[in-house]
Amino acid sequence: MPKRILVTSALPYANGPIHLGHLAGAYLPADLYTRFQRLNGQDIIHICGSDEHGVPITIAAEKEGVTPQEIVDRYHFANKEVFERFGIAFDYYGRTSSETHKKTSQDIFLKLYEQGVFTKRKQEQLYDEEANMFLPDRYVKGTCPSCSHPEAYGDQCEKCGSSLSPTDLIDPVSAITGNKPVIKETEHWFIPLGDFQPWLETWIESRDNWKANVIGQCKSWLDAGLGDRAVTRDLSWGVPVPLPDNDGKVLYVWFDAPIGYISATKEWAEQRGNSDEWKTWWQDEDTSLIHFIGKDNIVFHCIMFPATLKQHGDFVLPENVPANEFLNLEGRKLSTSKGWAVWLHEYLDDFDPDLLRYALGTILPETKDSDFSWKDFQSRVNSELADILGNFVFRTTSFTHRFFDGIVPELANPTDTDMAALQKITVQKQKIEEAYKSFKFREAIHESMHLARIGNRYFTETEPWKTRKENPEACGNTLYVCLQICAALSVMFQPVLPGKMSILRKQLGLPGQTGWVNVNDHLVAAGQLIAEGEILFEKIEDDAVEIQVEKLKQKEAALSGSKTFEPLKDLCDFGNFASLDLRAGKILAAKKIKKSKKLLHITVDLGFEKRTILSGIAESFSPEDIIGQNVCVVANLAPKKMMGVESNGMILMAEDEDGSFKFVETTAEPGSPIT
Ligand code: MF3
Ligand code: ZN
Repeated sequence: MPKRILVTSALPYANGPIHLGHLAGAYLPADLYTRFQRLNGQDIIHICGSDEHGVPITIAAEKEGVTPQEIVDRYHFANKEVFERFGIAFDYYGRTSSETHKKTSQDIFLKLYEQGVFTKRKQEQLYDEEANMFLPDRYVKGTCPSCSHPEAYGDQCEKCGSSLSPTDLIDPVSAITGNKPVIKETEHWFIPLGDFQPWLETWIESRDNWKANVIGQCKSWLDAGLGDRAVTRDLSWGVPVPLPDNDGKVLYVWFDAPIGYISATKEWAEQRGNSDEWKTWWQDEDTSLIHFIGKDNIVFHCIMFPATLKQHGDFVLPENVPANEFLNLEGRKLSTSKGWAVWLHEYLDDFDPDLLRYALGTILPETKDSDFSWKDFQSRVNSELADILGNFVFRTTSFTHRFFDGIVPELANPTDTDMAALQKITVQKQKIEEAYKSFKFREAIHESMHLARIGNRYFTETEPWKTRKENPEACGNTLYVCLQICAALSVMFQPVLPGKMSILRKQLGLPGQTGWVNVNDHLVAAGQLIAEGEILFEKIEDDAVEIQVEKLKQKEAALSGSKTFEPLKDLCDFGNFASLDLRAGKILAAKKIKKSKKLLHITVDLGFEKRTILSGIAESFSPEDIIGQNVCVVANLAPKKMMGVESNGMILMAEDEDGSFKFVETTAEPGSPIT
């Protein structure tokens, strides 16, 4: 057991409410882990807070015509509250607009600056002349150079996941005015991540208990080679660069945000009246630091932040970063802008938090993306929580009340069957413990439910309703065993179902301090009185989930009224249009390109010649499906080399509302001009 564990979960941007995707990515797993470890007697704290800087915040403010401060105040408090209601038990929920944070991140920047780590460089940046500002990160949108997605952001393409710089975008436009930006020179501080590459490689290599998806992403970053990363931005919202000639620059949000974990720990310690205590958690090497995040944050937590911490020298490095993949909703990618999301505060208006903690816990995207559907939610609640766990507890406790006056019977001359059932408690305890410790929460929950299944089966097999008259001793034994299983379950399920299990523990009269070590096969003593039971889990009717699906569709439709259609581009004169040479074609051959997830290598018959065209559609089509497809081709597009292959032209695609690609078809003979 480590001496102490410091758990952090990704600081959510305070620019909108929390949804299911957030929970499944970081907060629920972090909370399950922390609750389990605490139950197990581990010294552990869970730190989180609001990420209040960065372009997502200022864009939200501009959209609403309010100040960034107004936005972060609103969502900081709302999110803090909704996490609490959902039972995410942070020890401290800080915010990166706090004074402590400003000072902490400036101090860390300064220390690295004084060590001479940063290089200052001139750089060409996109600039909006109407808004009078530089356009970093999400302030620019344009076409992705790797997959041609027309809505890529200046820092990332959400379609293909490429990490980008604003100047990589094709046809960039300002997200503020919609204008075409100009190029202007500016100066920034860079961290030369390349210098850290050898150390990072060895360090990551030594992390033998990290998840495969996390190691995989780190390796692909390292294989591509790390370059310089700017740690400052030309923005007015953020932590000011703590240098005299800072030119109004602020720290890059991904430089300051993870430092938020440290500042929040400082505030936590202060609040406890022991302001130096944060040092034990961040500087004593007996601390095991665990970052819970979603997969889009891997590079920052496994490469950038560790490089900063290592360089600084005073801090522990993460012991593990158990990042999760993404959660889809009803078979589709979650999208807040398209209204395809379930908001936590709305969920809590309709259902108990424990139900979602369980249902989501059983489908966490631990190794690959997973899907949440309301039907599945209903069936988890009805056929697992209600029919298995709830039913087992209820039949056991109500039988005890009807026939034993609510008193735990003696175990007298137990049979092999009785003993075997009792022993399952310790067997399952071991499995669950192992699973929690190795971040396999789905498995931990599954094994917990398995014990309830065993209990139910044993109850049915031993038929206490018959033995009650024929063999009262056997009947008493059945109840004794079932009550022990109930008591064990009330502890085992505590991390997942904190609300419901505290009711059950009270009913069974378990002392408040009963911890994981106390779980055994005699948690409740013979002769002890247990309280009358209530139904722990009510079933969810079909109507109730149908309403939820309907709600989702309505929200999406309401947003799509104004959002679905791309705004029209500026007028284009006939000459410009006529300079494009569009031709009908037919796909003759297609194959995947090694090392590229997105690109297909396509041979197109243009009648007068055969062309090689690379197209970023590999995730939507497999090569064999598109052979023979009639297509429209931009035939006079300047050649472009990608992944070592020259592409000559472009195949026209239409993008559907759900982001899927469709071919633009023609029945004309290959080579026919399209005019
Ligand atoms: N706000 C970021 C996001 O939502 C996460 C920040 S994590 C931290 O993607 F490490 F920077 F705090
Ligand atoms: Zn892309």
